[in-house]
Amino acid sequence: MLTVRNARVATMTGAQAAAGNAPLGLIEDGAVACDGERIVYVGPSGGAPAGGEIIDARGRFLTPGFVDPHTHLVFAGDRAGEHAQRLAGATYLEIAARGGGIRSTVEATRAATDEALLESARRRRQRMLRSGVTTVEVKTGYGLSVADELRLLRIACSLEGVVPTLLGLHAVPPGMERARWVAEVCEDLTPEAARRGARGCDAFLEQGAFTASECRAALEAGRRAGLVPHLHADQLTAGGGAQLAANLGCASADHLEKTNAAGIAAIARAGTTAVLLPLAAFFLKQQPASAVKFLEAGVTVALGSNVNPGSQRIESVSMLLAAGCLLSGLTPAQALWACTAGGARALRLDDRGVLQPGKRADLVLFSTSDPDHLPYHAGVEHAEAVIQGGKILGTPFGDTLK
Ligand code: NIG
Repeated sequence: MLTVRNARVATMTGAQAAAGNAPLGLIEDGAVACDGERIVYVGPSGGAPAGGEIIDARGRFLTPGFVDPHTHLVFAGDRAGEHAQRLAGATYLEIAARGGGIRSTVEATRAATDEALLESARRRRQRMLRSGVTTVEVKTGYGLSVADELRLLRIACSLEGVVPTLLGLHAVPPGMERARWVAEVCEDLTPEAARRGARGCDAFLEQGAFTASECRAALEAGRRAGLVPHLHADQLTAGGGAQLAANLGCASADHLEKTNAAGIAAIARAGTTAVLLPLAAFFLKQQPASAVKFLEAGVTVALGSNVNPGSQRIESVSMLLAAGCLLSGLTPAQALWACTAGGARALRLDDRGVLQPGKRADLVLFSTSDPDHLPYHAGVEHAEAVIQGGKILGTPFGDTLK
């Protein structure tokens, strides 16, 4: 048994759209007790079960482990040069049309050894875990052949706390006819990826990437194979992505920078979670999606980091919280909810994201008692102890970041 006592416990059981700290479902002087991988008690410290290992939180803020629902963590190479080109005025789509972008990462990834890919992905994963991300979704998409996509899937599956997603329709493979690749993804890759541990499937609906009918074919193939569908929707151009995600019953529609009112209404009706990626909008100097419009329509909002080598290379959780507030208009409590309960909903994981008996024992103890401090003091990671599956990673109060 492991019990964290005397904490400001954010259960994340409040309504996300509510004002102030209401989304957090706070328990003052609260405790969370875990038995092995599960939570067995959440409530006042005075009622917590006795015995076992005790962490005295001294009034500090305790949340569920963070769930990042959108990353592309497994890749080789570096596209800092493209970033500099964008800073000098080139756009993401222009660079991609010149043969850069995703295709340049595909080349570097195919040339890298398994060991190099695993080691770089493992380092990124470790940094995220230390800052409180106990669950992270990881997409393939830089292999773009059946064998290379399955290789990236195997590497993703070997990382701790990862939810793997097949992203076969990320770009047309160099030298291949697009219809042939779409057919291979639907007929060969998707069923095999499902057998080898993929949990979700995704597609990139965008000018220069894939059309709505191609994305529909891939996600329907994913659903037939038992995968949870997601869609990269309306990122750079308005392409009816939110409506397609809603029609297909996607768990999440991701990006949504260009989504209009009809698209928002469609995902509201379908119960599709909006995964907003404000750091990507910041990185590409785009207008970020406003979370307020989605919340007003009754849509659940999650925040994802979208860590990848091209459109977003910032790994910091506190920068993501800050971007969720400063760029997308969430309150600090709504942003924290979006990074926990929201991320779990986007991935259809009902065993995490909130603190309740029976849920996974994934917890983060912060160096502050004040939830507002986290998106305010950004660029510094504030997690002092991360508990994943009931195991403590890091030393409680080893240092005080505040
Ligand atoms: O989510 N939009 C498509 N995929 C990534 C970018 C990947 C890349 O540029 O390498 C994204 O932003």
